[in-house]
Amino acid sequence: MKNRRVLLASRPTGWVSEENFKVEDAPLPSPADGEVLVKNLWLSLDPYMRGRMNEGKSYAAKQEIGEVMLGGTVAEVIESKNPKFAQGDKVLGMLGWQQYGMSDGKGLNKIDASRVPMSAYLGVLGMPGVTAWVGLLDICQPKAGETVVVSAASGAVGSVVGQIAKLKGCRAVGIAGGRQKCDYVVEELGFDACVDYKAGALNDDLKAALPKGIDCYFENVGGEILDAVLRRMNPFSRIAVCGLISQYNVTEPYGVKAFQSILVNRIRLQGFIVSDRTELWARALPELAGWVAGGKIKYRETVAQGLENAPRAFIGLLKGENLGKQLVKVA
Ligand SMILES: NC(=O)c1ccc[n+]([C@@H]2O[C@H](COP(=O)([O-])OP(=O)(O)OC[C@H]3O[C@@H](n4cnc5c(N)ncnc54)[C@H](OP(=O)(O)O)[C@@H]3O)[C@@H](O)[C@H]2O)c1
Repeated sequence: MKNRRVLLASRPTGWVSEENFKVEDAPLPSPADGEVLVKNLWLSLDPYMRGRMNEGKSYAAKQEIGEVMLGGTVAEVIESKNPKFAQGDKVLGMLGWQQYGMSDGKGLNKIDASRVPMSAYLGVLGMPGVTAWVGLLDICQPKAGETVVVSAASGAVGSVVGQIAKLKGCRAVGIAGGRQKCDYVVEELGFDACVDYKAGALNDDLKAALPKGIDCYFENVGGEILDAVLRRMNPFSRIAVCGLISQYNVTEPYGVKAFQSILVNRIRLQGFIVSDRTELWARALPELAGWVAGGKIKYRETVAQGLENAPRAFIGLLKGENLGKQLVKVA
């Protein structure tokens, strides 16, 4: 049996291309004592992977050239020499862009696949869902009646942010690329409004959608959108800086012009990385699970079929071709 896998072949300068990856078949190893061999079923594609492809220092360790691309996976145990896992167990781990993975059991967690689809553990009931919960409820701390704005609003994180804001009695306004995404955010997810930043009138459209300004901004994109939002922030408002995806593929970073708003409006701005906040996961996950089970949080997935299509799907994610959580169905 062979293990098809995707390696980092070279580091991109600016935009990622399919040439930065190499798809190859490797022999399948047997587990040693204490090890578990898993078959990956679902692979999560996430924007942070772009940062790891760079040489430079970031908040996460860089990905080495020639190594299997890192990534979150849902898998099935096919052979176990570790007493904690049995053949057939469904597990969540970081087994990367490959068909099979070997683990010593550390960082591998059994999941209950009987109540929710397994893929949800990589999205709304996984890292992206917890990211939304932490950034909104722990950092922004919105109060009922306040206005919450989130960028990349139709994506894995943004879609959950706006729905939690609604559950907390806030006015939720999304920013997303294109009419179709904005319609989804308002009509299906229940946001109060959504601004299509690609429509060519970002400042005017934000002004119209925000008659009472912004109390909380959940930042996913940076660049010109951040500038336009800063101009609409209220006194004593809060910004959670979660991501800056518009800057991940540029060689010349965007210079923010409306920085003065932070002083004038006494804005509290804080960046965060969800993996630093391990103490909050045990509170966030059951709450998210309850909302999903009760139909109060909805989600969508964009699924690429087959590991060999992962590089194309990853580039598509960075270009906004996904709606909701971007996944790869490995098997
Ligand atoms: N801090 C943390 O711990 C943490 C954890 C998870 C994710 N994140 C960050 O959260 C953000 C969202 O992640 P996600 O997994 O939920 O991804 P996602 O929103 O599902 O997908 C990325 C989306 O970003 C938008 N985008 C891409 N280029 C853009 C640009 N130039 N300007 C504006 N929007 C652009 C696209 O939507 P449009 O079509 O609407 O442009 C695209 O669909 C990312 O910045 C990511 O790095 C941070």
